Amino acid sequence: MLFDFKDIPAKECYKLLVSTVTPRPIAWVVSQDSKGVLNAGAFSFFNAFSGDPPVVAIGMASHKPGRPKDSRVNIRETGQFVVNLVSEENAEQMNITAIDFDPTVNELEQAGLTALPSVRVKPPRIAESPVAMECELMQIVDLGETGLVLGRVVAMHVRDDLVLDAATHYIDTPKLKLLGRMHGRGWYARTSDLFEMPRIPVSEWKMKPSR
Ligand SMILES: Cc1cc2nc3c(=O)[nH]c(=O)nc-3n(C[C@H](O)[C@H](O)[C@H](O)COP(=O)(O)O)c2cc1C
Repeated sequence: MLFDFKDIPAKECYKLLVSTVTPRPIAWVVSQDSKGVLNAGAFSFFNAFSGDPPVVAIGMASHKPGRPKDSRVNIRETGQFVVNLVSEENAEQMNITAIDFDPTVNELEQAGLTALPSVRVKPPRIAESPVAMECELMQIVDLGETGLVLGRVVAMHVRDDLVLDAATHYIDTPKLKLLGRMHGRGWYARTSDLFEMPRIPVSEWKMKPSR
């Protein structure tokens, strides 16, 4: 069936996108306003886009037209944030931080989470998260009611037991047990159903009998 986006209201285009582009990783973003008030929010319009420079991007929308999400306001104000990743055991606390609280409310406190100091940026990281990326704002691309926040990762924390080899930077990815966001408002996927498929060198492909 064809859905021509020129005939579909924005809300429905959103629905088509988020129920097909799945699973999406979740950025659990900690930021601070200029007075130091802490804020945490969950964002699944998120991914890594470059290794050199190391760049992540997050689509942060608005609570209502003209009122951007508090995380975006803070990041624009201070230029710094921390992206924490969400494991299965963090699910319920992540969901609490996504409640539409007043900007003055510290979502970390509400969810009973522990803030640990960062080393390169002011906003703290979440102790309960298996991976935290300290980020500096590169640019916010204006997409109308959404701002696409591009962050340069300046430091990464990985829980000790999840590092296979610190010297070679090998991480035990399955052990992270990260969550992905699926369709609708409340569906998630576990990242435990894996299979391996090695890349095919072109030389090997050419040796195959003719197709
Ligand atoms: C799993 C999950 C993913 C979310 N992804 C996004 C997203 O990509 N963009 C967005 O604007 N809001 C997203 N939200 C909603 C925000 O988390 C929510 O509006 C939050 O209150 C924003 O916090 P803030 O105003 O403190 O920044 C998501 C919520 C959940 C639970």
